[in-house]
Amino acid sequence: MNEKIDYKETTNDLLTRIDIHNKYGGRDIDQWMLEVLDLQPGMKILDVGCGGGKQLMSYHKYLNGDADITGGDVNEELLEQARFENTKLGEPFTILPLDFNRQLPFDDNTFDLVSCCFAIYYASDIPYTISEMHRVLKPGGRLFTSGPMPDNKKVFYDVIREASGKEIPPMPGSSRYSSQIYAAIENTFSKVDTVIFENPLTFKTAAPFIAYTRASLDEDRRLWTSLFNSKEEYEQLIQDITRVADGIVQRDGELVMTKVVGGFIGTK
Ligand SMILES: C[S@@+](CC[C@H](N)C(=O)[O-])C[C@H]1O[C@@H](n2cnc3c(N)ncnc32)[C@H](O)[C@@H]1O
Repeated sequence: MNEKIDYKETTNDLLTRIDIHNKYGGRDIDQWMLEVLDLQPGMKILDVGCGGGKQLMSYHKYLNGDADITGGDVNEELLEQARFENTKLGEPFTILPLDFNRQLPFDDNTFDLVSCCFAIYYASDIPYTISEMHRVLKPGGRLFTSGPMPDNKKVFYDVIREASGKEIPPMPGSSRYSSQIYAAIENTFSKVDTVIFENPLTFKTAAPFIAYTRASLDEDRRLWTSLFNSKEEYEQLIQDITRVADGIVQRDGELVMTKVVGGFIGTK
């Protein structure tokens, strides 16, 4: 039986996953990014796919407000969240709707840094989107992208594979990030550097792993339809995943899921 599945709120899912990283991760990805980016006072920064504004706030805090920071996203609900954070800080950011599948609404040579965190692999025409990011950067400016490398959260996929008895459908992130997206940056920018961030998330019980799983499958439900077709099948899969995850916790005393993130830095 096929039935329409109600999506959960994207904002809720994104914030749930960010919260789980904060609580169970051994390392802080925002701190890593700041070390890698070497931000300078007065910089003009654009964050594409800014979501709820996580990177905007991190840059603002690091530079003590001495920066011109713009965030854009296609999702109005997430932009509302970013605007809410902007208001709390006294409106230091420019926040605007922006679809990276279209021309970016900025002049050539505008920004010192364009960042795009965990979003670029949703682009429908990757070389076009990368060329737009290149266009709006000043000469010598940098593009920073982050996304999953092929070994990312292997345990997550292993558990789902075992629970469902099926192959994992290709994910836009892990299947395209280190290949097509890297290639597009390499082809467009004068140089590209790769930095790797590994973050083990340690779960002493299955519950937070299941919360993470729900917040991932909900967000990308249309990608997972080969594993379930109805709400009942989805709930059955979650039960099966819980059983496998519980087994790992009983056997090993914990379940460790390691995020393996690649940062690509293109210099114009
Ligand atoms: C996983 S979230 C990451 C959000 C944020 N950068 C962070 O790290 O918390 C992916 C983001 O990409 C955005 N996105 C997807 N397609 C987009 C598009 N065509 N144009 C702009 N943003 C897009 C989504 O709305 C979402 O905010």
